[in-house]
This record gives sequence, structure tokens and C-alpha cells, in this order.
Amino acid sequence: MPTDIKALVANRLGENYELHDRYLNRTLVKVQRTIGFDRVYARAKGAYLYDKEGQDYLDFLAGFGAFNIGRNHPAVRKAIQDVLDLDLPNMVQMDCAFLAGVLAERLVARLAVQGAPHLDAVFLCNSGTEAVEGALKFARAATGRPRIITLENSYHGLSYGSLSVTGNPFFHEGFGPFLPGVAHVPLGDTAALARELAEGDVAAFLVEPVQGKGIKFPRDDYFNRAQELCRRHGALLICDEVQTGLGRTGKWFAFEHWNLQPDIITLAKTLSGGYVPCGAIVARRAIYQCVFPRLDRCIVHSSTFGRNNLAAVAGIAALDVIEDEGLVENAARMGEMMEARLRQIQQRHEIVDEVRVKGLMCAFEMAEPQAFFGKLGWKFYHALDPGLFPQLIVTPLLQKHRILTQVAAHRADVVKFLPPLIIGETEINRFCLALDDVLHGLRRFPGPLADVAMNFFRSAGKGSPIKPEPLPA
Ligand SMILES: Cc1ncc(COP(=O)(O)O)c(C=O)c1O
Repeated sequence: MPTDIKALVANRLGENYELHDRYLNRTLVKVQRTIGFDRVYARAKGAYLYDKEGQDYLDFLAGFGAFNIGRNHPAVRKAIQDVLDLDLPNMVQMDCAFLAGVLAERLVARLAVQGAPHLDAVFLCNSGTEAVEGALKFARAATGRPRIITLENSYHGLSYGSLSVTGNPFFHEGFGPFLPGVAHVPLGDTAALARELAEGDVAAFLVEPVQGKGIKFPRDDYFNRAQELCRRHGALLICDEVQTGLGRTGKWFAFEHWNLQPDIITLAKTLSGGYVPCGAIVARRAIYQCVFPRLDRCIVHSSTFGRNNLAAVAGIAALDVIEDEGLVENAARMGEMMEARLRQIQQRHEIVDEVRVKGLMCAFEMAEPQAFFGKLGWKFYHALDPGLFPQLIVTPLLQKHRILTQVAAHRADVVKFLPPLIIGETEINRFCLALDDVLHGLRRFPGPLADVAMNFFRSAGKGSPIKPEPLPA
């Protein structure tokens, strides 16, 4: 008998954490419980999640940036329903899928309007990491060179190629060896990049225009100088726009902030409006053709679900929504408002050391305060656990104010927020008032956040580590 999905949800929603503890990632379950994130959301709409009781939660995480257009957007839902109603052939494979062609046409047209008409050939895939993997292969195929340079602290995904180029040792631990021929250079250090490129064997310099882990970006013309160096040394410039693309930073593509002309870009996350997996590589045609140079090599890079109808129509509809609702312009406007409000908060709270905002990619970094109790708390909580402090912001934002955010990176005192691009002044006000309140709590020690910290320490600390199960003999 087919499962009645509506009855299933009605009867069993709430078993989420038990199911995951039993059958999926139980370490993640433990973390969710420890930090008080073990909520059961029953409904979602736009910038809000709702629990069973109908309480709203402001979603300033947007599914790690997959829901730029807001959750459950009716236009994308309709596109998906339409394609299902049509009973279209899907993934015939030995044909050329119509809707995938239209999505590619739309992406190329948009890039042309944004000043990058040279990005005119599209490869469709299913995720960000897959787009990065493909871009690395494209770069090697086009240049005949082996090496890839990326930035320290970068994040490009977790499959082996993307993980190898990710400049963040935290994600590497326990998974080596990695792809050879990868080097990481510091953001802003043109000399270090020039030294690597001068070796003459670099296929590409791969960058996130705004780094997702910590929201870091150059304030000067570093990227322009980097692009010039790449050109001079015959290396390609790849912009990983998986998180920054399609309006997130207040431009359609973040490379526009520096008027860059990347040779390849990668897209995913919000490309499908959050409904179904969808990723893309967009490259110069000449680069693309180096991957598929002969008839017998026409599918040397491909993916079974890569050009599927659901992803294609979700992509087309998501692009429509971004255009029709003026979301890029809204992200720029709301980003400015957010930055101004965060700077006011920074004035009031000495613990807020730096505010970093590009469109609606936002973070603030904290530093040890001078005031006695603030300093005491800072030292105490850091001694308890070096990763704890930003959690003292993120947890009460959810528990007390029902706002979902995240810590920005491993062992960094940075809180990050990625609101959907549809937000207005109401959401910014709610967030900033809540943040102000939580930061006030940090001035006292032991203050209202001591319970959060002790709970964290008790559950996650040395008292009850998660023991690995013995492997079968
Ligand atoms: C810049 C960047 N590249 C690649 C990825 C990987 O994307 P996915 O999680 O879809 O594999 C991410 C995900 O956060 C990202 O931010």
C-alpha cells in the first residue's frame, strides 16, 4: 500500500530526532540537542519557519543559502507541478533535454546582462561540490596543467576534489590523502599568489568572492590584481559563486563587485529556489570544448540527474522570481540597512569587534572586551571550549527570540547570518533588537548565558564524549 504522506506527517512529525539518532547522523542529533536547536518545524513560508503550535521562527540561515527567494515559493512550486502534470519524458539521456536547454539559455542571457557575455557555455549538475569538481576538471582540460591554487580559509565542498582545494584543515582531518598539486594562499597576499603562478603549472586560481566561512572579502583591488596575474601566467580564474551567486551579495554575481571577468563560475544552492538539487558550471565556450573535444569524448564529464526536468524548471522559475521581485536590488538595500544597524550595535557593545556585510551575506566578529565582567566571561567560556562563545549568541537568538542563525566557522568568534533576500525592515528590526538583547546578556558573569554554556559543557564536553562504536571484525 502506498504511504499516505499527509497522514504520515500528521501522525509522526516529532519523531525527527529519534529517527535520526537511530538511522542517520546521531552525532549531529547530539549537537542539536546540546545547543537547543532540536526544534520540530511543521511549516515554512517565505522568511519564516513555524512549529506545531504555530509559533514563527525568523529564518536567518535560509538553508545555508538555498532559500534566497524564501521558503516554499509558490512560483517554483507551480513550475514543478506543471512539469509533473505534463508527463514529460525526463532524463532520456540519449537526447537533448529541452528544459535544461532553456535554463542554460537563461543563465547565459543573465550573465551577458551583468557584463560577462563570455560566459556562454553551461554544464548542469546537482550540487555545489559537483559544480566545483567539474570546474577543476574543466580547468585542467583547458590548460593541460595540473595545479590549483585557492585561498586559505576557503570552502568549496566536501567531495574529494572540492575538499582537496578547500583551504580549511578542519574539514581535512582524517580524510587524506588529497588531490596533489593544490596550494593555498592568504587572502590579500598578491606576492604569495604570484610566486605560485610563476611556477608555470597552475591550471586555475579558484576563489569565493566572499568567503562563506567567516564572510571575508578584500576591501581593495586584490581580486583585480589576482586576475591580472592569472592572465599573465596563463592560469584561469574560477569564481565559486555557489553561495554568493544569484543576488546574495546585492549583485547578481559577486564577481561584479570588482568588475572581474572570471573564466568559469560555479552556481548551486538557490539556483533551484531550494526545491530540488541543481548546480551549474558556466564557462567560456573555448574552455568547455576542451572537455569534450572529440565525438568519443562527448560524455566524459556528465551526471545522470544533471539535466533533469524538475531541476531545470525550478531553476527557470527561481530566476523569474529573483527578477520579478527585484530581489537583487532588495538584497543590496537591506544589506545597507543591516550594515548600518550592526554598526550601531557595534558602538553599543565593545565585544563586537568587526562587522562584515556584503549584500545579505553578513557576519560580526567578536573580540575580548575590556570591561571586567565581560572579560571574565570571555576568558571563562573560551577556557571551557574554544568553539563555545559564538554559540552563546546563536542559542539564545533561537531559544529566546526564535531567530535561526549559525556560528560562522570552526573555532572562530564569528556569528553569521544569511537571511532570505525577501526580507524587509520588519525582519531587520526584529533581528537587531534580539541581537542587542543577547549581547547585553554577555556583559554579566555569570549572566543569563551561563545556563547555555553549562548545558553545552555538560553534554558536549569532556564528561560525555561520543564514543566510536567498534568496527566489525
Ligand atoms: C562557496 C561554496 N562552494 C561549494 C559549496 C558546496 O555546495 P554543496 O553543499 O551544494 O555541495 C558550498 C556550500 O556551502 C559553498 O558555500
